[in-house]
Amino acid sequence: MGLQGRDLITIRDLSRGEIEEILQASRRMIPYAEGTRSGSQLAGRLVTLAFFEPSTRTRLSFETAIQRLGGRCVTIADPSASSMRKGESLHDTIRMLSSYGDAIILRHPNEGAGRLAAQASDKPVINAGDGAGQHPSQTLLDLAAMHEAFGTLSGLKVVLLGDLKYGRTVHSLAYALATFGAELVLSSPPSLGLPEEIRQQLDQMGAKVSEETQIHKLVRDADVLYVTRIQKERFVDAAEYEKVAGSYRIDREVLAGAKPRLIVLHPLPRTGEIDPAVDATPHAAYFRQAFLGVPVRMALLSLILTGKAR
Ligand code: CP
Repeated sequence: MGLQGRDLITIRDLSRGEIEEILQASRRMIPYAEGTRSGSQLAGRLVTLAFFEPSTRTRLSFETAIQRLGGRCVTIADPSASSMRKGESLHDTIRMLSSYGDAIILRHPNEGAGRLAAQASDKPVINAGDGAGQHPSQTLLDLAAMHEAFGTLSGLKVVLLGDLKYGRTVHSLAYALATFGAELVLSSPPSLGLPEEIRQQLDQMGAKVSEETQIHKLVRDADVLYVTRIQKERFVDAAEYEKVAGSYRIDREVLAGAKPRLIVLHPLPRTGEIDPAVDATPHAAYFRQAFLGVPVRMALLSLILTGKAR
């Protein structure tokens, strides 16, 4: 039915074919993202970004994508400067914003905020992270990074390492990888495992999922090592965070037994899970992954706002 005018709240809003269409379009957008070609695909479009949680990559890569393609944006980057501080509801905020621009990109600390916003808005809403819920545009760029490295997604063995309980990027990514027939290996501190509901849905999708705790074993067999930060801000009890803080770290020694083509990804920011010495190895793909956020979001916005991405 095409992506024009659609919301993107969870990665499951997209079919496998639609994800492939976005990834293909994102490869065409790379020269625009690099600034070697100028574009006007979003000329005349105004996008509203409403960020009620901190962000560097997601907000700025969306803004970069919009501006490099000739569009414009208005942004709430500091929640304390919006009228939600005076008690305005998310519903009313979004309903009003939807009358200003052509699409809304929302980040919010509450799981389910993206869905609520989509109900309040008569313009497309992109969920840019809702608490410990989902982060679908991040998944698209994660898939783009894997596809760029391997030319395929199916059959890849992907380790998801870290905070699988609160990490919204892995929640979205697990579904997408299952859709493409990748094999998932889960590794987390015992208290931070993948939520049971997601495990059950992966089972229903027929996904190949296993668990492994020995880091050297994980690294030896993997094609992709997707590392995540422990989401400190989601812990209700600081003592519980302290129990798991620093419980895993990827360094050159750990990677010594890896396949030559293994790539290490991380949605970033990192807070100690990957030794900076890894950056100089051929395995480090996380900064390239972050760059790919621009062409992927160019493709996504072009398809949602104009129905094409040329
Ligand atoms: N990956 C990601 O969502 O990064 P930011 O929190 O900086 O947007």
